[in-house]
Amino acid sequence: TKKISIAIDGPAGAGKSTVAKIVADRLSYIYIDTGAMYRAFTYKAIKEHINIRSEEDLIRVLKETTIELKHDGQKQIVLLDGKDVTKEIREPDVTNNVSIVAAHKLIRDEMVARQKALGNAGGVVMDGRDIGTNVLPHAELKIFLLASADIRAERRHKENMEKGYPSDLAKIKTNILARDKQDTERKISPLRKAEDAIEIDTSFLSVDEVVSKIIHLANERI
Ligand code: C5P
Repeated sequence: TKKISIAIDGPAGAGKSTVAKIVADRLSYIYIDTGAMYRAFTYKAIKEHINIRSEEDLIRVLKETTIELKHDGQKQIVLLDGKDVTKEIREPDVTNNVSIVAAHKLIRDEMVARQKALGNAGGVVMDGRDIGTNVLPHAELKIFLLASADIRAERRHKENMEKGYPSDLAKIKTNILARDKQDTERKISPLRKAEDAIEIDTSFLSVDEVVSKIIHLANERI
């Protein structure tokens, strides 16, 4: 059977990674979490005291940085220069600074090139902010997930607690709104729904319901 590409975009906490992971699993496709790539690089920039407002400083470091997304059964592992940073990239310091790093043109160009290479062969579910518009513009299926900010904040809070990450609901909501603003207002490939994307409001849908909808849409295209 044909292997298609599935792009899943949307704002922070809309359920993209949860849903994308399950869809990839059901179809035996690879899952690529592009947010984790921006996060891993942001973690390195902070740790190495790079000025994250300086595009030139950042790109010099990124060019010599390797980021790998590995799958250990159900779990995704993020390797930065060979070192496991899966947990570190979810820390507030990274979450609060990632949208600044991700707004630079040269950083996006490099990340998008790497993501295109990963998605090249098809059989991929990729989630992010600019997948349908920019990374996989020819994806056979494009999904745009959304949900109210309150519901997104509550979900992220619950997820953090389950994973044992530090979490504060009010701070999460503030951060989600700040990232929505930065991600939608930036000049270079801002977060927006691709013209041919199918919008799904996940506010009152269970994970299973969202997954079923996407699998159904995928099967129509395979
Ligand atoms: O998906 P996640 O919330 O982990 O992404 C973290 C941040 O990385 C986003 O808020 C956004 O600034 C950036 N990002 C991006 N483009 C993508 C994926 C993530 O700009 N394709």
